[in-house]
Amino acid sequence: MEIKKVAVIGAGTMGNGIAHVFAQNGFSVNLVDLDQNYLDKALATISKNLDRMIKKEKITEDDKTSTLNNLTTLVGVENIPEDTNLVIEAIIEKKDAKQNIFKILEEKINKDTIFASNTSSISITELCSVCRQDKFIGMHFMNPVPVMKLIEIIRGYSTSDETYKTIEELSTTLGKTPVEVFDYPGFISNRVLMPMINEAIFSLYEGVAKAEDIDTVMKLGMAHPMGPLTLADFIGLDVCLDILNVLYDGFNDSKYRPCPLLKKMVAANKLGRKTGEGFFKYE
Ligand SMILES: NC(=O)c1ccc[n+]([C@@H]2O[C@H](COP(=O)([O-])OP(=O)(O)OC[C@H]3O[C@@H](n4cnc5c(N)ncnc54)[C@H](O)[C@@H]3O)[C@@H](O)[C@H]2O)c1
Repeated sequence: MEIKKVAVIGAGTMGNGIAHVFAQNGFSVNLVDLDQNYLDKALATISKNLDRMIKKEKITEDDKTSTLNNLTTLVGVENIPEDTNLVIEAIIEKKDAKQNIFKILEEKINKDTIFASNTSSISITELCSVCRQDKFIGMHFMNPVPVMKLIEIIRGYSTSDETYKTIEELSTTLGKTPVEVFDYPGFISNRVLMPMINEAIFSLYEGVAKAEDIDTVMKLGMAHPMGPLTLADFIGLDVCLDILNVLYDGFNDSKYRPCPLLKKMVAANKLGRKTGEGFFKYE
């Protein structure tokens, strides 16, 4: 099936980046949220990010104009046109909220449309239990979407080979590198990343080293571009805790037990960059 019309649900950090990348590659994109204010903010972010690309001479003014012309905003998922070829959900990381959307879409959108979720950790097989299971897939983009090359493509239990092939080819068209992953908690990215971040937090909690020093060891010793505590602040400590809980519950294994310090910081609303303080302070 040829994908031309795309709807992206959720205009936050990930949704605006996903919409940006599709629009820049010539797809017709409807960006959807609960309120026009969120959509206006997302369009302003996309415009600013395109300006940055012009400054770096990666795109031209004309590319910016055509990208913005490919984008339309919509309030409410019930207004997504039924002839949309691909719907990508990128709302908050809550299973019930995501499933409510897919239930509405199942009734409304053409039967051959592919549904995708950008979830970081929720089971694709569980998410699609309320809708079309063979045409449902995980498309896990990385933040910031216009910059990061990877798309982790997650096959649910019943995802068809045809659906997988379509999304794999589409990812390449977007200039990204797709990687096939099967549906187990945390997929690959967060199954490997989150225990490392959690262990860095345990090391801080147990007084093994200071936050700056833990990050320096991983940067200079392991050639990581960013230390694990800085990365946790960037992702959001609440998001890290949610994902660790998915791993902990999904595998029933104590090795994924979130560090008590992480829980305490989330309770204190020290969530990282977005609240101005996490393991480090931000302006
Ligand atoms: N932030 C990251 O680094 C990252 C990376 C990969 C994947 N993800 C996943 O992407 C998803 C979105 O994360 P985010 O960081 O962009 O979140 P965010 O909070 O920045 O944005 C979520 C957006 O969804 C909107 N929304 C909520 N309910 C809605 C509904 N019913 N209909 C329409 N819009 C609705 C909100 O208004 C908000 O604008 C999550 O599943 C998250 O786990 C996040």
